[in-house]
Amino acid sequence: MVKICCLGAGYVGGPTMAVIALKCPAIEVVVVDISTTRISAWNSDQLPIYEPGLDDVVKQCRGRNLFFSTDIEKHVSEADIIFVSVNTPTKTRGLGAGKAADLTYWESAARMIADVSKSDKIVVEKSTVPVKTAEAIEKILTHNNNKGINFQILSNPEFLAEGTAIQDLFKPDRVLIGGRETPEGCKAVELLKSVYANWVPEDQIITTNLWSAELSKLAANAFLAQRISSVNAISALCEATGADVAEVAYSVGKDSRIGPKFLNASVGFGGSCFQKDILNLIYICECNGLPEVADYWKQVIKINDYQKSRFVNRLVSSMFNTVAGKKIAVLGFAFKKDTGDTRETPAIDVCKGLLGDKAKISIYDPQVTEDQIQRDLAMNKFDWDHPIHLQPMSPTAVKEASVEWDAYEATKGAHGVCILTEWDEFKKLDYEKIYENMQKPAFIFDGRNVVDPEKLRKIGFIVYSIGKPL
Ligand code: NAD
Ligand code: UGA
Repeated sequence: MVKICCLGAGYVGGPTMAVIALKCPAIEVVVVDISTTRISAWNSDQLPIYEPGLDDVVKQCRGRNLFFSTDIEKHVSEADIIFVSVNTPTKTRGLGAGKAADLTYWESAARMIADVSKSDKIVVEKSTVPVKTAEAIEKILTHNNNKGINFQILSNPEFLAEGTAIQDLFKPDRVLIGGRETPEGCKAVELLKSVYANWVPEDQIITTNLWSAELSKLAANAFLAQRISSVNAISALCEATGADVAEVAYSVGKDSRIGPKFLNASVGFGGSCFQKDILNLIYICECNGLPEVADYWKQVIKINDYQKSRFVNRLVSSMFNTVAGKKIAVLGFAFKKDTGDTRETPAIDVCKGLLGDKAKISIYDPQVTEDQIQRDLAMNKFDWDHPIHLQPMSPTAVKEASVEWDAYEATKGAHGVCILTEWDEFKKLDYEKIYENMQKPAFIFDGRNVVDPEKLRKIGFIVYSIGKPL
């Protein structure tokens, strides 16, 4: 029986390993983590992450061939294949602060693997890492190896999106495996390929060299984010000219060379990866003497920052240039629907912008806890362009944010509503009831274009949508 161990029971490690266990009953999969609370949650009825369909998959395999444990060394030493799916955030201090990936967790995982291994291992990079990381990992593993162990490093980046993780894992557009072009490297690639071949058609499993696989992941995220910044840049021009961004995106996306997906204008993209991975790409370009290429990708993040501040400025200016003392209801705090994840959510920047203008905000999100929201708002803002000057939020301003457990409660008595996550339930709210209970004039700022502006205008609202005529 092939044994798999995965280091890191997070948004990637948990769902990915659960699906491997489901699709490969002959393989034993153990997911380990340094966080005991995370592992206890994976072993409980309340999984640590919200992801549609995940509960079902875990229930089917947990205790059969899927296990969650904190006994890291035991399971690493017993495994044939070790996936490393630890976090790789942006460095906030020292060389490359604000851009480079912080590989502290990765390096300590690699050192631990070298220490405890007694047999040959295939080490798989599942985390998103800078191109050439495999070379560094190889150095750590081989220089700490006096037991004659053969370590093969593979790059197998993950392309799942949160909120659709299970669907994406069941039917991936492609699985990418990069390895060394040596006989041992090719053997390792074939073994990992045979794991995925249990449910992924072979022609969708791409094999490449290590560096192509590592770089393809950063490039894919940069291309996806670039589409959003492109449509968001056009949304600003739509607002200035009377064009409708939905009509423009539809017309542009009909060109089969461009395609219709990922062209929804929004308050800005969020999530733990787009910004981090583009910054990582920018840093690699700079280190390789390619400042023009670095500047090109920087612009994708700058437009995203601009879109968020543009949203706040438009809100404040349309509410007679002041929101001081006014109640603003915030519907949605997660970075997208169907997840409780708030990492880099545009809602943080928008809420901080409103609090900075002395608004009182009342937040409702169906999946994000009050604790999480308060932690996010109290956190120092990390400015990637000027990492030395962290911008603290004043504790008194944060006190002006409250969290409600119902959209109607949050909007009661409000002067304005902003929709910051595209939760389906926001499309179905009783907006007549909401209007009744709001101050007049009642404003709606739809940061996700989920409501029909014409219908709401008929009720009496003043509606601002992204990239749509007033
Ligand atoms: P996460 O923070 O949710 O999970 C990482 C986990 O690793 C944490 O639980 C942490 O405690 C654990 N960990 C850290 N060091 C460890 C160690 N030495 N041993 C064992 N466990 C350790 O992160 P995530 O969202 O799952 O992302 C993981 C990686 O996958 C990142 O590189 C990210 O860029 C990439 N990725 C994420 C997504 C996504 O949708 N979140 C998608 C594709 C790729
Ligand atoms: C993204 C990629 O889609 C995944 O392929 C990748 O594996 C992952 O990053 C990663 O490496 O972490 P994720 O961030 O989970 O996945 O979610 P997306 O669906 O890509 O959405 C990201 C952000 O862009 C969200 O805030 C979303 O609301 C926003 N978005 C998305 C738009 O504003 N407009 C769109 O048209 C699409």
